[in-house]
Parts: sequence; C-alpha cells; structure tokens
Amino acid sequence: MTEEIAIEQLKHRHLLGLADYDAEEIRLILRTAREMRTVLDRPIKRVPSLRGVTVVNLFFEASTRTRISFELAEKRLSADVVNFSASGSSVSKGETLKDTAQNIEAMKTDVVVIRHESPGAPHFLTRWIDGVVINAGDGAHEHPTQALLDLLTIAEIDIASHPRLAEFDFSGLSVSILGDITHSRVARSNIYGLKALGAEITLCGPRTMMPVEVEQLGVRVTDRLDEALEGCDVAMALRIQLERQSAGLFPSLREYHNRFGIRLEHLERHPDLRIMHPGPVNRGVELASEVVDHERSVILDQVTNGVAVRMAVLYLLSGGSGSAVGK
Ligand code: CP
Repeated sequence: MTEEIAIEQLKHRHLLGLADYDAEEIRLILRTAREMRTVLDRPIKRVPSLRGVTVVNLFFEASTRTRISFELAEKRLSADVVNFSASGSSVSKGETLKDTAQNIEAMKTDVVVIRHESPGAPHFLTRWIDGVVINAGDGAHEHPTQALLDLLTIAEIDIASHPRLAEFDFSGLSVSILGDITHSRVARSNIYGLKALGAEITLCGPRTMMPVEVEQLGVRVTDRLDEALEGCDVAMALRIQLERQSAGLFPSLREYHNRFGIRLEHLERHPDLRIMHPGPVNRGVELASEVVDHERSVILDQVTNGVAVRMAVLYLLSGGSGSAVGK
C-alpha cells in the first residue's frame, strides 16, 4: 500500500459509479474483496455478515455474470435475497421505475441493486428510496462493480516490473482498452478506477467509437492496435454490441477483427501481455477463440473475483468495517 493511512469505512452511502470514488475508497473495497475471496475457497462458503439485511436485485436489462454473482455474493453473506425482472412484472403494465422501487421498499427492503438501460437510473432511485443503491450497469454510463473486479484481477497478476500491484498501486502499469469506448460503461468505470490507482491508459478503437471529449480523460488514444499493444501489460477488449454494425460505426465484423481483434500472433509478439474481457465475448470478433482460452487470458478469474468484489461492496455499504470473514 502507498503512504496513505488505510480507511476502514466508505465515505459514500451508495455505489453509483467510480467517478467520485477516490483511491482510498477503491483500495478499501479491494482489500475487503481479497478477504471475501478466501470465503469462496472454503468448504462452507458462507459468513453471517449480512444476516437480517434484505437485498433486491432489480434487473431491467439482460445479464448473466452480474446478476448471478450479485445473488451469490448476497447469499454468501447470509442476506435475504429477492430477484426482480422487468419482464413478467407490473413494469409491462406501465408502472414507473419510481413506483416500482417505492413499492418494493415499502416491503421493508434495505439494499437495491439495479441494472437499467437508462444512464442515471440508479442516481434517480436515490431520490425516491431510503435504502442503499448499487449500480449494476446503467446504459452507457457506468458499471462500477465490473471495474472493481477488473482491478482486483489485475492486482493478482504477477508482473515482475510492477511489484506493487498486489498492494493496489498500479503506478506505471500500462493498460489498453480496446473497442467501442463511446458506448461502454465498462470502459468509463475502468478509466476512473485505473487512473485512481495510477495506471497509464491507452484507448484503441475505430474513431467512430471514440467519445468526442476523449482528450479530456487523461488517456492516450490510437486507432492502431499495434501501437496500443506496444509496451502494454494488460489488454482489456470490450464487447462489440452487434447492433452497432447496422449503425454504420464499423464496416463488418470481419474487418473489425482484422483491425482490432487480438489473435495468437499478438500473444506471440507480446509474451507478457495478459488478456481481459468483461463478457459476454463474441468469439472471433474482439478476441480470437484461442485467445479467449489461452493461459494468459484471465477472463474466468474476472468472473470469480466478481463475487468477491460484490460481497465487499454489499458488506461495506451495509455499514461493515474491519474484518468481515472471521476465521
Ligand atoms: N460483464 C457483464 O456485465 O456481464 P453481464 O451482462 O452478463 O452481466
């Protein structure tokens, strides 16, 4: 850890994004997640930390990883869990987000985890309910728990030239984020989190997929994959949203793969490069299939760490401090 004195409690009440979380808070979550990770390796993967706390998972958008890992995290902490999907609910009869959330909270729930297609939906909820709100992905805005699990995964990588990664000090680490930056909540949250921990970031993708304000993000930008991979320690490929092709942002999936996809030849040329992807992967588009399954891909480590990070976030936002996991 750097010189700072470690804090034991979060300053925020909610996790809406990483834009306003500082390095201290991010490191507290990551330290706590590392402890939580030990629970997942025990024969009985459960601690009583959230006994008596009721968590509602409000998912208005499709999800596999985030939804399952939040539910697992809640159950590992002994919380009571309620799952809500927009399909089959009164949302299909026209009920608003505000009314849905207020009605659920009237049943005496404590924490809402929300995924919604509209940027700002979690912030909106904090105006109308008293409970803790956790953003599980809001449109193209932020996906903070994804970035936190990415940071934890990077901290576990053994890179000789960066011996302080395990202390969550990413000074000088080179991370390239590849793909559709404009529409990626994963990219945005990772930029905030990686910068807070000291990493150097390169964004690479078609110019049509770069936000207009990109220079203000304090990152390097290129549309050449070779440049992005030169000296890069970790390459984070983003999912191409296939519907974007019809919007004309890139000519074809084959062309995208040829220009921006990581293939075996890139791993051979860059022998220390590690590969990340938030999922779901379009095999043969962002990453060649052999790269997804390669020993230098840490994609499944990201998924495992997702449970630990979500346990940490739930624990800390529910008022936890100090050790959560006992012996
Ligand atoms: N990474 C991620 O958010 O995946 P899901 O959409 O499956 O939750």
